Amino acid sequence: MGWQSKLGRKVRGGLGVFDPLFFSINYLRNKRWVLLTVLSASIIATLSRLLIPIFIGDAVSSIQNLQYSAVEYDAILIFLASSISGGVQFIVNYGSQYISQTYSYNLRKSVFAHLVRKKFGFYEGQTSGDLLSRSTMDIEASRNFVLNTASQLIPTLFMIAFAFVLLFTINMDFAAIFTVAVPILIFIGIVFQRKQRTHWRRIRTYYGQMNEQLQENIVANRVIRGFSAEHSEQAKFTGTTGSYFDEYMTVARLRGKYNNLMPLVVSAAATGILFYGGYISIISASDVGPLVAAVNIFSMMSFPVSFLGRLIVFSENARAGISRIETVLDGHDDEDLELGDSERLKGDLEFSGVNFSRGDLQILKSVTFVIRKGEFVGLTGRTAAGKSSLINLIPRFYDPDSGKITIGGTDLKTVSLESLRKAVALVPQEITLLSGSIKENIAFGGHDTSMDRVRWASHIARISDFIESLPGGYDTMVGERGITLSGGQRQRVAIARALMTNPEILILDDATSSVDPETELEIFNNIRREAAETTVLIVTHRESALKFSDRVLKLDYGVLTAGEYSSGPDSPYGQSYEASGGE
Ligand SMILES: Nc1ncnc2c1ncn2[C@@H]1O[C@H](COP(=O)(O)OP(=O)(O)OP(=O)(O)O)[C@@H](O)[C@H]1O
Ligand SMILES: [Mg+2]
Repeated sequence: MGWQSKLGRKVRGGLGVFDPLFFSINYLRNKRWVLLTVLSASIIATLSRLLIPIFIGDAVSSIQNLQYSAVEYDAILIFLASSISGGVQFIVNYGSQYISQTYSYNLRKSVFAHLVRKKFGFYEGQTSGDLLSRSTMDIEASRNFVLNTASQLIPTLFMIAFAFVLLFTINMDFAAIFTVAVPILIFIGIVFQRKQRTHWRRIRTYYGQMNEQLQENIVANRVIRGFSAEHSEQAKFTGTTGSYFDEYMTVARLRGKYNNLMPLVVSAAATGILFYGGYISIISASDVGPLVAAVNIFSMMSFPVSFLGRLIVFSENARAGISRIETVLDGHDDEDLELGDSERLKGDLEFSGVNFSRGDLQILKSVTFVIRKGEFVGLTGRTAAGKSSLINLIPRFYDPDSGKITIGGTDLKTVSLESLRKAVALVPQEITLLSGSIKENIAFGGHDTSMDRVRWASHIARISDFIESLPGGYDTMVGERGITLSGGQRQRVAIARALMTNPEILILDDATSSVDPETELEIFNNIRREAAETTVLIVTHRESALKFSDRVLKLDYGVLTAGEYSSGPDSPYGQSYEASGGE
């Protein structure tokens, strides 16, 4: 039983070598004709290359028999065969590049399409450096396999089979030597590739780590400067890149040995043939042409046979890469933006019995409240009380474990994410602006991207005066390619960006924390006046902002309680607190 299952595993393992081929076919569906052309061209190139030793052998025989015209004839044939194989080889090289690039082009697009749809939870389990290396190095590893198999697999198999037939027709003993030599050569190839395997794995890991460290140092360069951590960061990176170097050099040493050993074995076999064949030829005084042809055919086998060994490592790299890419391609943690009803959500926002946890931590405990349409509500609570977690449930960045969230009575789960996110605009606690002009940043998610609307949104967010004072105005570049905005300016640009979409519900997650309290109140007043229909929910620690709100919800580590300023005399729009889940 034991050996059978072991054998089964080996057979399956052997089949696994071609798994990347089956995977890649999915990305080459409409390229059948190119594949077929490359395949035919590679067979023609191989055939014509293999005919050369035959013609050389013939020429030698003709010289031996003093038939000069036959030598001329062979010389022309040799030239023709070389020309054909050279010319056709161009199609093979170009075509296989085309195939492999088409494969990686389609795969990259597909990986990107999944990445932009992944749920937030997916990114929490990954480092961005690792995701980057998946989208680059892993795709490249599998492309390499496609390139090599497309251009070489079939001609190699064909060449070995055809060489065997040729040798067989020349002399059965030569064919027998060939039959013994080829498996030995393939075996050597496999042993060497296996030795490289762990090193390739480490190379991949170190590459990911290098990416990670590079990225962190670029993004967090201010922190590093601030703490004078340049030396320790340099030392860390030197360590990783040094290990990467060492592993590559180990592979280079192994390859160097292998690349010498392979031709050595081939020439040993060719020498054997020469010894044996020479002896036979001399004692039987027979024609030496076939012997020359056989030795030549043997010498040509070094590359194809070593290719079969190399194929295993290409395949292994590709398989390791593909299995990492597949976790991105696996659609089960993708968001389906169109799934559900598409309707314009309008009306009151209601949470009923909402529980939400991450791992062992229960962040929200049976949260229940109603916010009437058009209300301006403050949400406060100690740091880590769960405020950001609560508001992230509204555009469904996450889903609650239990309970229901509705807008105008419609359960959020029944509408499509697309229409939900059209109705809800969230300005997060950490602002990200994109590289581009201020106008592009503000108009980013809007449907009406007219200049009037951009000016209107900027005016409400109290950023228009500043933008208009810039020499470039709204076309001024921000981010990596332009000016650096202050924290408060960034927050106001982000608020303008959110207002562009004309949302039903506007959520500001501490998004005025860097804006002075006076300007903050001006922004709130503008929103109240210009977007009176919009329901506003602000997360804040500031008393002045809470006083401005119609009502205040307070979170006490996951439990909702009424806030101290609710319906107080200081609130100009005071209403009674309606949270049924509160105290
Ligand atoms: N994605 C997550 N995975 C695991 N734990 C999380 C996640 N997001 C938040 N938490 C945890 O949930 C708790 C509440 O976090 P949250 O960000 O909601 O607090 P907050 O009230 O917004 O705090 P702050 O005022 O500091 O912004 C914290 O203990 C935090 O560590
Ligand atoms: Mg928060």
